Amino acid sequence: VMDSSKSEYAEKLCNVRGLIIYKDFAKNWDNVEAFQARPDDLLIATYPKSGTTWVSEIVDLIYKEGNVEKCKEDVIFNRIPFLECKNEEHFDGIKQLENMASPRIVKTHLPPEYLPVSFWEKNCKMIYLCRNVKDVAVSYYYFHLMVPAHPNPGTFPEFVEKFMNGEVPYGSWYKHVKSWWEKSKSPNILFLFYEDMHEDIRKEVIKVIHFLGREPSEELVETIVNHTSFQEMKNNPTTNYTAIPDEFMNQKVSPFMRKGIVGDWKNHFTVALNERFDMHYEQEMKGSTLKLQTKI
Ligand SMILES: *[C@@H]1O[C@H](CO)[C@@H](O)[C@H](O)[C@H]1NC(C)=O
Ligand SMILES: *[C@@H]1O[C@H](CO)[C@@H](O)[C@H](O)[C@H]1NC(C)=O
Repeated sequence: VMDSSKSEYAEKLCNVRGLIIYKDFAKNWDNVEAFQARPDDLLIATYPKSGTTWVSEIVDLIYKEGNVEKCKEDVIFNRIPFLECKNEEHFDGIKQLENMASPRIVKTHLPPEYLPVSFWEKNCKMIYLCRNVKDVAVSYYYFHLMVPAHPNPGTFPEFVEKFMNGEVPYGSWYKHVKSWWEKSKSPNILFLFYEDMHEDIRKEVIKVIHFLGREPSEELVETIVNHTSFQEMKNNPTTNYTAIPDEFMNQKVSPFMRKGIVGDWKNHFTVALNERFDMHYEQEMKGSTLKLQTKI
């Protein structure tokens, strides 16, 4: 069992300069590194399963001045291309971005050390969204089950071991958030928390609007709040990933928009696993000033 799971890892994932990533993405790495950002690009960065689609739809609505119909004209992964995403026939984030008119909104899951340097050179604005680590682990587990690009995650406790060790695509969650947190001392980077968005979406939406240098009119804020609720996004074919074929994302196994709640980890962690996880968390986050907004 050990050997077959190891060979499945080697078949689907690989290590590019220290970052664990999908094999198909890795083949394109020279193009990722050489990517030319533009000064008016906005980058949305997250660790996977942290609310990327949610914040992306909010930002796109701000760019489109609250025009919901305009947002619905295309699927979210065409409106906001996924930078490092590459699959021979189907996906090419870099090509999409190169063919796109400015101002572009760019999605990435890369840690800051692996971001194409042009984003730093051009001083682009960036938004980082951070989510409670335990809910990320649960969501990433279901994502492994539904997206065949992943090796079989095994049982949830087995997956959590790999997650804690950073043996998953994009590596260690702890390193990812700590690095982006350090970077966010720059005024060009807005650091948001998923739990804050749940607690007071209006407040966070207004924060994003200000960050983008725009005016938060009452109508714009209300439109965004209405249109980006979990139920709206789950029923919206441009945001629920229904356009992705089953061979890449099998929503019969688990929907892309699964629950969108805070604290689902309590349904998945045993008391013993939770204690182990908390101890490991303390070690990993020691010395960082980053504090998750809700009790972890
Ligand atoms: C938002 O939703 C509420 C409740 O359904 C509705 O009354 C209101 O008109 C909506 N606002 C906008 C701007 O769409
Ligand atoms: C996505 O939205 C469409 C339109 O509401 C719906 O028919 C479809 O079932 C949804 N897909 C998922 C996976 O929720």
